[in-house]
Amino acid sequence: MTATAPAEVDRPQQTPTFRHFIAGEWCDSTSGATFESHNPADTRDVIGRFQAGTPADVAMAVRAAEAALPMWKRTPAPKRGEILYRFGALMAEHKERLAQAMTREMGKVIAEARGDVQEGIDIAFLMAGEGRRMFGETVPSELPDKWAMSIRQPIGVAGIITPWNFPIAIPCWKMMPALVSGNTIVFKPASDTPHCATLLVELMAEAGFPPGTVNLVTGSGADVGDSIVDSPDVGVISFTGSSATGKHIAARAGRRLKRLSLELGGKNGIVVLADADLDLATDGIVWSAFGTTGQRCTAASRVIVDRRVIDDLLSRLETRVRRLRLGSGADEATDVGPLINDAAVDKVESYIEIGRGEGELVIGGDRAQDGDLANGHFFAPTIFAGVKPMDRIAQEEIFGPVLSVVPVDGYDAAVTALNQTRYGLSSSVYTRDANTAFRAMRDFETGIVYVNAGTTGAETHLPFGGWKETGNGHREAGHVALDTYTEWKSIYVDFSGRLQRAQIDNQ
Ligand code: UN1
Repeated sequence: MTATAPAEVDRPQQTPTFRHFIAGEWCDSTSGATFESHNPADTRDVIGRFQAGTPADVAMAVRAAEAALPMWKRTPAPKRGEILYRFGALMAEHKERLAQAMTREMGKVIAEARGDVQEGIDIAFLMAGEGRRMFGETVPSELPDKWAMSIRQPIGVAGIITPWNFPIAIPCWKMMPALVSGNTIVFKPASDTPHCATLLVELMAEAGFPPGTVNLVTGSGADVGDSIVDSPDVGVISFTGSSATGKHIAARAGRRLKRLSLELGGKNGIVVLADADLDLATDGIVWSAFGTTGQRCTAASRVIVDRRVIDDLLSRLETRVRRLRLGSGADEATDVGPLINDAAVDKVESYIEIGRGEGELVIGGDRAQDGDLANGHFFAPTIFAGVKPMDRIAQEEIFGPVLSVVPVDGYDAAVTALNQTRYGLSSSVYTRDANTAFRAMRDFETGIVYVNAGTTGAETHLPFGGWKETGNGHREAGHVALDTYTEWKSIYVDFSGRLQRAQIDNQ
């Protein structure tokens, strides 16, 4: 696999054009068309032009992935793991360059961009190790002189469709377990962050993933995403993104009974009980609600608080949020970067209107357009108080810096409010009482529960995913991620030398 730089600068100062990566070669789309990626903190900054992929491009990528499959799945898993180690080490070496590119293209503040790359490194190393484990089971047989065991085998070609909010981490969460378990890949990144994806695939090529094992096709969901999902030769799809797109993909994949892992919306809540350390809770709420400008699927968008401490908590929150600095994420002093694009700003604005009719606006509520902010997609961190559990701003995913504070009376009412949502990714409880903490760990209906910490910051070696409409039951990260990308095979070896009827046939 050659690591030829994909960028082609026509003339100095001109916007570079980037390409698909298929069968180990950087290539143009059959469409001859491109689209642009912009810096959300300053939309005058055009990062590059990217190939507007077509169904024909996807077909080529799938053929390349299929052609590479026999060789890749026969490569011993520990050897595949060694390439993952090299890739993780390369990401570590290029961490600052990747983080800077991510802040420029996606907008998150630079410290968070470094964290996003770190998550990619962590999962690369974790999954590299899985190359030496990938446990099946060896169990006793019901019969004498008979061996019984189960092994994992790759599914085939994996379609990887990823969002813009974690443009390095999430593709790695999906591609690392897929590759170490012997699948080959067709990768379609979000159209807001194709540059991050291109840089990632460049490093994968350099790490030594053989031609055809990783194929990158940029372009729209309708032209590229749907073609991947519809392809009869793609055996498994992993998608992270909106619930609406997830349902669309699930319906299409369902027609072919395709393996599908979905990681979708959230409406994560933080419960603050009357005995909580309110300063600690304030730190956790501000970070979880406004970190990544509220654009994490683990972000907290609801605070469910005991009425007895609501005034104390609200005044702390207001003071802290007033001090948050908006600006370009490239400035180390910035707390809150831009939203991803215009549509995101419009969506947040529409929920501010809804919120005004449901709760009381405490702070924020406007686009931020002072000075340089006018060139980007900035929105003031916003808090609504007096929100009821079933209000729209407490139920619908806004994916921006908008927090709803929901007053309740006591633990039982808090649990009811927390669980009254279609989603179930992350949750948290602030309490000083150990018994209450254990009740919350039992009662909260989410895939992740935090005690005395915010809702974000999941670690890569534990299962990551949500209950209810946040997903479809699959998990990313941890060794369980292998379940998405492998088929089980149970194997029986009879070494008795005679017909032994199984126990069920011998009653
Ligand atoms: C996401 O937003 O899709 O736990 C993932 C966290 C991060 C992952 C967020 N590790 O906040």
